[in-house]
Amino acid sequence: MTTSISKTDLSTLDLSDLTHFEDGVPHELFAQMREQDGPHWNALSGDEPGFWSFTKAADIQAISRDSLTFSSATGGVFMTTQGAAPVEVLREVILGMDPPRHTQQRNVVQAVFTPKLIRQKAAGIHATVNRLIDEVIEKGECDFVKDIAVELPLLVIADMLGVPVDDRKKLFEWTNRLSLAAATSNPELGFGALMEIGAYLTAITAERKANPGDDLVSRLVHAEVDGEKLTEQEVTFFFAILMFAGNDTTRNTASGGMRALIENPDEYRKLIDGHATVVNAVDEMLRWVTPVQYFSRTVMQDTVVGGHALKQGERVVMWYPAGSRDPELNADPMRFDVSREKAPHLAFGGGGAHFCLGNQLAKLELKILFEELTRRMPDMQIAGPITHLTSSFSNELTSMPVSFTPGKRES
Ligand code: HEM
Repeated sequence: MTTSISKTDLSTLDLSDLTHFEDGVPHELFAQMREQDGPHWNALSGDEPGFWSFTKAADIQAISRDSLTFSSATGGVFMTTQGAAPVEVLREVILGMDPPRHTQQRNVVQAVFTPKLIRQKAAGIHATVNRLIDEVIEKGECDFVKDIAVELPLLVIADMLGVPVDDRKKLFEWTNRLSLAAATSNPELGFGALMEIGAYLTAITAERKANPGDDLVSRLVHAEVDGEKLTEQEVTFFFAILMFAGNDTTRNTASGGMRALIENPDEYRKLIDGHATVVNAVDEMLRWVTPVQYFSRTVMQDTVVGGHALKQGERVVMWYPAGSRDPELNADPMRFDVSREKAPHLAFGGGGAHFCLGNQLAKLELKILFEELTRRMPDMQIAGPITHLTSSFSNELTSMPVSFTPGKRES
């Protein structure tokens, strides 16, 4: 696959064909597309309309920052009508809404999901990370994906929702089904998972409305901004999308980031020796992995992006990993370098109204995780075959066996 990539004929290229993602993110192909003048037209088979693929950071930012011209609600956010869930369902979650409904919902959610609340989670996240490390450290080996990367965001979200930690297994199963639905363009699978999450959360939402606690669900049910509140159903849908948006993404950055450190031992050494900060390394891992590969929009009125005319009704797809490795954004972008200062990237989107709501929480989780990993497992090595999901949507490792010098539990 990789050897033939430099010869790919872009005129017939169809990125809905998963063979392009069999070896992971097709960075060489993206580089070829980025070098082209203007976006790439991607025709689709059958009745599906095609779309324009954007790979340059500046173009992705321009599209992301104009949610009046580029609608999420009209045609959904996936590249075909067969995305992770039916379009009419996606319109009910914040990710798939347009202004003014999006603005109203985002204001209420932001009033609850504050930087202060996130800072308060640091001690709990720290304890969770060390518990996860404790569970494997004496063995000297584990599956980094299954034992660490999967568990951390699930436990953090279970804690925020105020649900029993044992329920995280259900959350995990639903998240995986949503991820698979996005990977295989199977809206029925995604819809089924969303309905099950909905039923689970509806009971919790109703209970917290009657008996509020200090958890995020209770706060969101009661939050009010300019006289606007979320209905119970909106709260339910918000948490359903939170599981999709906050689990896989953080997990995949953690495992892809760890892999990059192991495969670039000089970079890992910089962190262990304190010659680079974990904060900068986390931005570099986000840039390097960029776990969400794309979202799409529908053009609402004729416009121009990067000198290219777009017509009302056309679809655009923004390839975030291509934007994150745009040489216009970072020098030498194909090099993993933890000493870049606040490396700019498009892992959380290109800015604008839908910019990742959980970016601060994700960065906090990753910072604490990598601080503790470099402290307690500084000699981690790959110990078996790494496997990944073949997906145009998620840059996702499914297994990464690792080994390290056995250490002692701390609790
Ligand atoms: C490394 C981890 C993460 C990555 C890479 C990531 C990535 C993204 C991306 C690409 C978007 C779409 C941006 C756009 O359309 O412009 C998004 C939206 C969103 N993310 Fe994240 N995310 C991460 C973690 C989280 C976490 C931890 C949460 C919450 C617990 C979260 C909640 C959301 C929500 C609610 C939205 C929709 C916002 C809106 O439509 O207004 N994300 N994220």
